[in-house]
Amino acid sequence: MIIMARMTFAVLFCVSLSLEMVFASDLIKDEQRAIEFLANYNEIASELYHDTVVDIWNYRTNLTDYNRQKCIESNMIYAESELESFRNASMFDIESFSEETQRQFKLMMNLGDAALQDQEKLKRLQEVKAQMVRSYATTQVCNISSQDPDECHTINEGIPQMFATSRNYNELTQLWTQWHNMAGQPIREQYSEFVQLSNMAARANGFTDTGALWRWKYEVEDFEEQVLEIYDTLKPLYFNLHAYVRRKLIDVYGSEYVNPKGAIPAHLLGNMWAQQWHHILNLTEPFPGKHLVDVTPILQAKGYTPRQMFEEAEAFFTNLGLIELPQEFWDRSMIEKPTDGRQVDCHPSAFDFLKGNDVRMKMCTRITMEHFITIHHELGHIQYYLQYSNQSFIYNGGANPGFHEAVGDVLALSVATPEHLHMIGLYDDDVDNPEGELNFLMKMALEKIAFLPFGLLVDLWRWRVFSGDITPDNYNTEWWDLRMKYQGVVPPVDRPEEYFDPGAKHHIPSNTPYMRYFVSFVIQFQFHRALCLEAGQLDNGKPLHKCDIHKSKQAGEKLSAMLKLGKSKPWPDAMEAITGQRKMDAGALIEYFQPLIDWLERENVNNGDVLGWDPTWRPPPPSYVRSERDKSATYTGKPVAMTTSGGHAQISSAAVMWICICLLTTWFSDEN
Ligand code: ASP
Ligand code: SER
Ligand code: ZN
Repeated sequence: MIIMARMTFAVLFCVSLSLEMVFASDLIKDEQRAIEFLANYNEIASELYHDTVVDIWNYRTNLTDYNRQKCIESNMIYAESELESFRNASMFDIESFSEETQRQFKLMMNLGDAALQDQEKLKRLQEVKAQMVRSYATTQVCNISSQDPDECHTINEGIPQMFATSRNYNELTQLWTQWHNMAGQPIREQYSEFVQLSNMAARANGFTDTGALWRWKYEVEDFEEQVLEIYDTLKPLYFNLHAYVRRKLIDVYGSEYVNPKGAIPAHLLGNMWAQQWHHILNLTEPFPGKHLVDVTPILQAKGYTPRQMFEEAEAFFTNLGLIELPQEFWDRSMIEKPTDGRQVDCHPSAFDFLKGNDVRMKMCTRITMEHFITIHHELGHIQYYLQYSNQSFIYNGGANPGFHEAVGDVLALSVATPEHLHMIGLYDDDVDNPEGELNFLMKMALEKIAFLPFGLLVDLWRWRVFSGDITPDNYNTEWWDLRMKYQGVVPPVDRPEEYFDPGAKHHIPSNTPYMRYFVSFVIQFQFHRALCLEAGQLDNGKPLHKCDIHKSKQAGEKLSAMLKLGKSKPWPDAMEAITGQRKMDAGALIEYFQPLIDWLERENVNNGDVLGWDPTWRPPPPSYVRSERDKSATYTGKPVAMTTSGGHAQISSAAVMWICICLLTTWFSDEN
């Protein structure tokens, strides 16, 4: 097993590192002493961790220079203490201990960046990370729409809405190009420096590179083969969705812009990264205009507040018999964008303070269905924290990172059904309608199936960057090769190597691993099916996509039993506890979408669509004369000049002054 192999490596490494040279024969074999050492570690580390999370929280919710310094200081203290514990742990003859004790050592001895003993290098690594995140968080794109020519927008405000609603080819090209130029290109140099430093830390910790360290968290030797194999099973679903959506986009933009056999221009899918496509549901609904599947207008018409959206979401958890949100959550969370002038990091995230009932969320909630679902996602992280809070510090965490991402999404699969939305007064249409059912499945497919290749490729790219297979000379080319190969999307304008388009996606500058989302999007359907069976929802042939586990105490108990384990057991054990399966498996996802898959296959055959794409086709260059169709699109203002440079974009220097990253964030449970 890889775990054992690494254990040996770690021990050898520690021994060679420790200040007093310890020979193998001198290693401590007394397991009782080892257990005491671990108990002591749990206490000290969780205390320091708590202090650090406090400083991270204070900074993220009030981005002052003072808070930033405090944040860096506590990270340095925590790193020092981790390294010290690592050295002490290396005095033990770990391999002679029981499996349980070995597991704890194995988990605590993965230090991440703290393994980098050279303080200057460690500091530089922090600085580079800080610069990248600051650069991303402060990027503004201005003058992107003639409707508000003087406005500037960040990626959290303005840009997503424009991307979701604009159907104007030129406007979208300009917005896409400026965002990628302004957010990605400036961090190109820093990213390659970061890769080198991060690899040094990973090697100091006994891994070949940072990618290997990330994969190690999945505790299986052939993790890469497993995810690729699963993707192969799901590829036909994606190809059918891709071909269908491409045809619908031709109806809107014309075949000059969307070639019937080409990849889809990446800026036409309602999302800056073409990662989830539900914002173009109105262009792709099987039965257009019927059965309102996106309930945003109802949420708004009913005057929902962020607090009410949270309460509605919480009720779903407590109705399953899960743990209710503690008063501390309500008192200390930030669920709306502050109006007191404070600069904050708006990205929705959950924090575990590891003390009492202190769990919090920060989110600048908008009254939309998308955010209603995101609330469930984040409350899933919070629920996991509360459930495993009785575990020791070492075992505080998801069975694997994909599990943590899946919890809230599993519940949201029930919540998003028309039946459930109807019950809570957010859907006033007939729920037993086959047309509405297909529209609903299309929305879910645009969210879940469209995401799969993106969820996969981000870290296929990064793993190869860390391993040195992709070098700084071909960062952008390889990125677009993967985007073409897996997603079948093509940039609207030429993107030569001088650009750095991966850097325009949040998780690259923030260094958040991404394969966790691919894993989550597969296993959440396995969990959903298991809980639906437990709730008796699939009796009498009811299809999986109609299941709503609402109020099922049995389903809640099953979920809770798994969540309580934290990471005390290898994830296949946790998965078995809930699904009876020990492997990731695409079967449940396919079962969920089967009616839509059948429908899409028929549609594509009837329309003579060819699945797949010719990788050589490129959209017309920006100087291309706009088609009649484009002129009549929803764009109402004066024409927007086409540009491939960041001419209208600017970074606000005031914002640059204020915003910085909290360092070494991947150590902490800042769950996005
Ligand atoms: N926090 C999640 C993601 O970034 C979802 C979100 O951004 O709303 O991974
Ligand atoms: N939350 C993740 C992202 O925004 C996956 O959906 O990329
Ligand atoms: Zn998350």
